[in-house]
Amino acid sequence: MTITGIDAVTFGVTDMDAAKRFLDDWGVKRVGKSNDYRCANDSEVRIRPADDAGLPPAFEPGSTLREILWGVDTKRALADIAKELGRDRTIVTDRDGTLHTTDDFGIAIAFRISRRKKIKAQPLLFNVPGAPARIDKPTTYYTRATPQEISHVVIGVPDLKAAERFYMKRLGFRVSDRYEGRAAFLRGSPAGNHHHLFLLNTQDGQTHFNHIAFKVRDVHEVIGGGQYIVGRGWESQAGPGRHYISSACFWYFKCPLGGAAEYAADEDVVTEKWRARTHQLTPGIFSEWTFNVPKDAKLAGAPIAASRDAS
Ligand SMILES: [Fe+2]
Repeated sequence: MTITGIDAVTFGVTDMDAAKRFLDDWGVKRVGKSNDYRCANDSEVRIRPADDAGLPPAFEPGSTLREILWGVDTKRALADIAKELGRDRTIVTDRDGTLHTTDDFGIAIAFRISRRKKIKAQPLLFNVPGAPARIDKPTTYYTRATPQEISHVVIGVPDLKAAERFYMKRLGFRVSDRYEGRAAFLRGSPAGNHHHLFLLNTQDGQTHFNHIAFKVRDVHEVIGGGQYIVGRGWESQAGPGRHYISSACFWYFKCPLGGAAEYAADEDVVTEKWRARTHQLTPGIFSEWTFNVPKDAKLAGAPIAASRDAS
């Protein structure tokens, strides 16, 4: 079975107006008059009132993640997941064939044959000394971002080892990198995105949503998009900056959907040849550089500590 990425994420929110305003500013496109929003590749963010009876139960109070819909590559993969998870939990199947269940930590998970579309991209060209590529042409400027796809979701879980075991043994995820004893970067498919799911261990024994990341085209779109978001009155959490792990350029914002939302660009793409690395979660490893982090904050702690779970 191969899980190829995130098709949709559903949030239950306490302030629908703020959530809609945020997503409009974020650059995802609203589908008609619905409360569903799409990235360029059709991966979706869905928002519902937190007390909507149709939502899976919340694992924490307030606005938060309520379901992750994973896209799989084939009918066979979907049937394999139904068989594997059906051994020890109830699975509800929609009329359209989407499977709904929960993981071992109360996080609602769903699966369908992926409906995400391939993006046709035209990367920015750079004039590197010795190898100029943009000739007689000014560069592209971004006045706001257009999220291309959902990159990953980050969740704090009470038992990191058990969570890794569930996602790797039961669903075929692979580990791309680790913070020893603290967190694991997991990807669904052998080749592709460095991580679709980043799991942190919580210290309070509860499950907490941390953030959702959206890929944009390049670092300039991270900054152009981020500046627009700041101009619209939303609060930066950390960034812009560049991570060591995954190499991504990032900018995190506090988000009325719960946790934070991240613009990310130029993340590592890995294959089966990639060797998972184990890192110590030291203050310096969070990023090569980050703007807008209070000087007295532990750098490693910025978005990670915001999950209320880290020391
Ligand atoms: Fe992230």
